[in-house]
Amino acid sequence: MIRKKFVCGNWKLHKTVAESVELALAVERGLLAAEPVEVAVAPVFTALHAVAEKLDPAKVALAAQDCFWEDEGAWTGEVSARLLADVGCRYVIIAHSERRQHCGETDASANRKVKAVLRQGLRPILCVGETLTERDGDRAFSVVQRQLAGGLAGLSAGDAEQLVIAYEPVWAIGTGRTATPDQAQTMHHFIRSKLLELFGDVANAMRIQYGGSVKPENARQLLEQPDIDGALVGGAALKADDFLRIVKYRNT
Ligand code: PGA
Repeated sequence: MIRKKFVCGNWKLHKTVAESVELALAVERGLLAAEPVEVAVAPVFTALHAVAEKLDPAKVALAAQDCFWEDEGAWTGEVSARLLADVGCRYVIIAHSERRQHCGETDASANRKVKAVLRQGLRPILCVGETLTERDGDRAFSVVQRQLAGGLAGLSAGDAEQLVIAYEPVWAIGTGRTATPDQAQTMHHFIRSKLLELFGDVANAMRIQYGGSVKPENARQLLEQPDIDGALVGGAALKADDFLRIVKYRNT
């Protein structure tokens, strides 16, 4: 099963509209005409529209960092998947660990958001991953299993075709401490086995990204693992050169 690698830059709470457009265009300019890796960038909500107007979606897909689970209504401050589709997003990151830790995201809310994203014909990137305490307590696998079962409850194999999973061990995010390629591959293999149980053969076509201090220096080792199908990149996505070196990891 050939899965096209998928590298997405998660810009988190960084960059103004002008800075976002500049970075997105620098990424686009640096790509080959037929890049063998799918590329996406996830700017802040307020920059999505401006970036969409400049980017060629055939080269760089647009992703949002979160969404709400209802399409519209009396939900002050929320942004729905419907509105993200309207501005040209193709992907929506759901349940990033920062949202689980600081913004009250749960497996149940993640599940509602994943369904909202699918309803709009967009593709969710569902984030899972254990904390250091959970890993040290030998609970990494049970935590990830719970996050998958909760986040993906009620989805069909057809839905699963649209889905990307991002495995991001919380202890590796923004810390400079990466999971070793072996640790990551072992968890990715476990995740795929759970996806096979849930969705059957479709799981072999699903992409599972690794995230957590992915840098140009470690991208190749990670991305060459058989069950690692790409990367969700935070810090290193804020500089076009670093991000492009990750996209072109085969050349390093
Ligand atoms: P990092 O962030 O690459 O800065 O560790 C990854 C993420 O949070 O998606």
